[in-house]
Amino acid sequence: MRMMVYVPNGRSGAVPAFLGLNFQGNHSVDPDPSIELNPGWFRVGRDGTTDGNKANEKSRGVSSSRWAIESILRRGYAVATIYYGDIDPDFDDGFQNGIHGALGGQLSDVAPESRWGSIAAWAYGLSRALDCIESKSDLGIDAAKVAVLGHSRLGKTALWAGASDPRFAMVISNNSGCGGAAISRRAIGETIGRINTSFPHWFCDKYTTYNENEKACPVDQHELIALIAPSTVYIASATEDQWADPRGEFLAAVAADPVYRLLGTDGMGGDSATEKMPPAEQPINNGTIGYHLRDGKHDLTEWDWQQYLDFADKHLK
Ligand code: GCU
Repeated sequence: MRMMVYVPNGRSGAVPAFLGLNFQGNHSVDPDPSIELNPGWFRVGRDGTTDGNKANEKSRGVSSSRWAIESILRRGYAVATIYYGDIDPDFDDGFQNGIHGALGGQLSDVAPESRWGSIAAWAYGLSRALDCIESKSDLGIDAAKVAVLGHSRLGKTALWAGASDPRFAMVISNNSGCGGAAISRRAIGETIGRINTSFPHWFCDKYTTYNENEKACPVDQHELIALIAPSTVYIASATEDQWADPRGEFLAAVAADPVYRLLGTDGMGGDSATEKMPPAEQPINNGTIGYHLRDGKHDLTEWDWQQYLDFADKHLK
């Protein structure tokens, strides 16, 4: 996998960083013509950004609104990103390609219903990225202060990366929805049955046991968030992103609060934060669990980044 790293100039020592996967190649994050077009498999772009399954020049900078690089650097943070398709192409291939294929017997020896899917594969890649950051001190990044961040399916991925790898100092889940931060048994917006039908390669096959049968599942997504404790976590929703069930995402953060308290943190930062869902654009950011509801659609915006930077200033500086 190819990791692209921006580090602020004029730093006096190693800096904290945001690490996240991107959907459309490293070259989509910034229009800089010197960034190599990611080779490899791409989803066919509806916007002419691919020729078949290859990225083309039109995809340069197309995701730049989701990566507030200038603001991040100005505020003293590094940012590292990897194209998710480098780790595992996002289609149902029977685990032939990507990291699954490379693992061979290590995966095929696992019972079929328990084989880890693409979300676990992407999270595994994030952990390997952190290994790299740890081993290369010349990058200028403080590996003990890395926030793992993702949007949508990559927000689900960030949560799993944080749950399975305690080295991440902070986890940021942007509009992650079903299989991410949203409580599944509410069955509002996307359901387990819908997600497993549309994306059969994202989760292990055992998850299909709970298709249209959420209440039978012995765990729910607040427990995924709780697995990240006591590391800091930030869950973000958007008002028009009802597919991801914003209220379900808020309730999961609230339901993870007791575990954060049990482990000696202040959880969401006080009773007033857990009592009712905050109005749009009024972040809850005084505790170890942050939450906001942004006005607008399913996206990762400059405003979202401003909240993550403010939260990181409290915990990573
Ligand atoms: C679909 C899917 C969501 C996912 C989103 C994305 O909308 O249903 O679960 O979060 O794609 O990753 O963009």
